[in-house]
Amino acid sequence: MKTNHIITGDACHELPKLPDAAFQTIIADPPYYNVLTDETWDTQWHSEEDYLAWSMHWARQCIRLLKSDGLFFCFGQLGKREHVFIHLMSHFCTEFQFHDLVIWDRAVGYNERRDSFTPAYEIILVLRKSEKVKFIKDAVRIPYDEQTIAAYLKDTRYKDKAARHQHLMAGKYATNLLRVPSLKGNSKEKCGHPCQKPYGLIEKLILCSTEAGELVLDPFLGSGTTAVVAQALGRGWLGIERNPHYVKMATQRLKERLL
Ligand SMILES: C[S@@+](CC[C@H](N)C(=O)[O-])C[C@H]1O[C@@H](n2cnc3c(N)ncnc32)[C@H](O)[C@@H]1O
Repeated sequence: MKTNHIITGDACHELPKLPDAAFQTIIADPPYYNVLTDETWDTQWHSEEDYLAWSMHWARQCIRLLKSDGLFFCFGQLGKREHVFIHLMSHFCTEFQFHDLVIWDRAVGYNERRDSFTPAYEIILVLRKSEKVKFIKDAVRIPYDEQTIAAYLKDTRYKDKAARHQHLMAGKYATNLLRVPSLKGNSKEKCGHPCQKPYGLIEKLILCSTEAGELVLDPFLGSGTTAVVAQALGRGWLGIERNPHYVKMATQRLKERLL
């Protein structure tokens, strides 16, 4: 199997050609189903049932391709009218092992709607293959702010100040609410794909679930964020993307490390 490589093709045709248990982590950001109504790739199914059957097809392949201690992250978005991701999660969790439900807090709302709260998050369903998963909690610690560090160090209940300081400098464990600002139109990182994920978000997913040299698969590579991050972190990667225009975009990003 060729790695650090983008396959231009349909995930459903390409995934079956890959060997069993080859990937430590899989990051899938698939079409959402009628959420991006201007994008033909998001509106290609006749019905919700067709979309769910298609989703089960590629997800079964992903589970086959995952190492026994690996994690499979699947992004999902709810639209103004569509809520099919709720059904997709239920289908996935009926057949595969649930591991976690992570919320990506985009920090800024999007798609202003008049009749409800402004949406500001996306969902990341995390699946596993066995109960023994590799999760590197220390790799995604969040630094304490200076005020918190100062307040804790003043606390007289902690006698060993050096140990306390060391503990505080390590930062706190991240929760499953990942706050990473979404990319604004004028962001330097933005490269023209309508749902490009931020580098910092994908970085957290790769850091918590892989070690250097391990392999990451993204079956819906889009603008190539997973590949760019994996490459920068010294992980191996493989991406699949059907649209040659996006393959070009990802290739260009990889070349320029356009971050
Ligand atoms: C939600 S976007 C992924 C965006 C990506 N995470 C990024 O950061 O740029 C989904 C991508 O899946 C691609 N796609 C849709 N159907 C596909 C299929 N059957 N096989 C492979 N790619 C497909 C679309 O062209 C689109 O670029």
